[in-house]
Amino acid sequence: MAEKSWETLEGAVHSCKKCRLWEMRTNVVIGRGNPESDIMFIGEGPGQQEDLTGKAFVGAAGKLLDKMLESVGLSEESVYIANIVKCRPPGNRDPLEDEKEACMNYLRYQLGLVKPKIIVCLGRIAATSIISPDFKITKQRGQWIERKGYYIMATYHPSALLRDESKKRPAWEDFKAIKAKYMELKERGELNER
Ligand code: URA
Ligand code: SF4
Repeated sequence: MAEKSWETLEGAVHSCKKCRLWEMRTNVVIGRGNPESDIMFIGEGPGQQEDLTGKAFVGAAGKLLDKMLESVGLSEESVYIANIVKCRPPGNRDPLEDEKEACMNYLRYQLGLVKPKIIVCLGRIAATSIISPDFKITKQRGQWIERKGYYIMATYHPSALLRDESKKRPAWEDFKAIKAKYMELKERGELNER
């Protein structure tokens, strides 16, 4: 198979019509941050601000995400942030099964480009798509799973934290655990040489 490239991914996503979400998009949203990061965050899909700018997590949820990253000493340049679907679901509804499935190959390809060691699912949609269909975010957030060479964890979506203040504390504990896992892998020499 030909070597993977960002140009190939971007070209394919920009012209993609594999599910109905292409019809209403202003921009596709592929991701932001460091494309060679060891930590990849995966959200749900673009919201209004993301659709308008073509950038991931730039609205209110994104600002909170950045603040939480900063509070544990992770900058935008030390992580990469993407989504399950690359086009905005109308009115911010949940992406449908066939839409998530249609878009999953791009995310797989993207994982192959970034090659993170740590994957963090932001919220139920990412966790049920990536970890397990019956994942319960309230019960199972913060737990590490090792699969295919990745350390995977799910935490609350930052939008959920904006709706419910009481989730902020446990989410912050999860962010501290993510930083701790990163430091642990670094010390053990398990991070990619780049
Ligand atoms: N919510 C998401 O899940 N992703 C974004 O990019 C923005 C908000
Ligand atoms: Fe293609 Fe994904 Fe957009 Fe659907 S959401 S049109 S699969 S890029």
